Amino acid sequence: MTAREVLDAAVPALAAAGCDTPRLDAELLVASALGVDRAALVTEPGTPVPPAASRLLSEWVRRRGAREPVAYILGRKGFRRIELDVDARVLIPRPETELLVELALDLPEGARVHDVGTGSGAVALALLDERPDLAVSASDRSPAAVAVARANAQRLHLSLSVEVADGLPDGDYELVLANLPYVREDEWAGLAPEITRHEPREALVAGEDGLDAIRALVAGAPAGTHLALEHAPDQGEAVRALLHAPSTYEDLAGRERVTAGSVP
Ligand SMILES: C[S@@+](CC[C@H](N)C(=O)[O-])C[C@H]1O[C@@H](n2cnc3c(N)ncnc32)[C@H](O)[C@@H]1O
Repeated sequence: MTAREVLDAAVPALAAAGCDTPRLDAELLVASALGVDRAALVTEPGTPVPPAASRLLSEWVRRRGAREPVAYILGRKGFRRIELDVDARVLIPRPETELLVELALDLPEGARVHDVGTGSGAVALALLDERPDLAVSASDRSPAAVAVARANAQRLHLSLSVEVADGLPDGDYELVLANLPYVREDEWAGLAPEITRHEPREALVAGEDGLDAIRALVAGAPAGTHLALEHAPDQGEAVRALLHAPSTYEDLAGRERVTAGSVP
């Protein structure tokens, strides 16, 4: 079989399984199985697919057909300038979360920054990669997520200390960044199968109005702590009400996604 033939078989199979972007997904899987980049599938469609790659691909297409995200199948996800190892122990980092990193880029040299609910380590590690002078630390209440974040830090040669903690660990921070769970209980069942079947529910759902984790963080942090909190587009007003002197930042689509302010 050639690369084009396996692609031509995978795309309709993934479309039939309900995947939103079957061609893109198939290209990512085929390119990865062959160890080439996606462009090579277009320029060299006749590349033969060796039997081992073909067996691997059948398994990957089956998994993607069961709506497992491509990032879990390949075990990695790009986030700003870094690639993170990800698996079902952690949320797959989302592009909108890059906004949290951007908010910290202008901090003065040496500033102390903490990432609460770090998951794969995405926010803290991307920030350290771009601003190695900052004193960045991270935490998560999930020991499994902490293990993933520590492994990512080691692999990326970034010096990040990550601890298991519920809420904000004691410390003196110029800025605390947090992409905590903010999905409402009643929203969960309506989310895509990629999320409900494969991502950790406890990394996403936070009570009836989705604000339990954010409220608890604000309640437990010392007065005056500067926080930048990612939230759902319709939660801006509620999050502003929790903070002193809040400012809300929008994503590229103009939706309110991050609110920063200090703990009253
Ligand atoms: C939405 S995920 C975000 C992960 C990562 N920050 C990212 O953007 O990819 C939320 C993370 O917060 C963690 N978490 C939830 N409640 C927490 C709490 N009270 N204290 C610390 N971490 C918490 C979860 O274990 C999960 O890893």
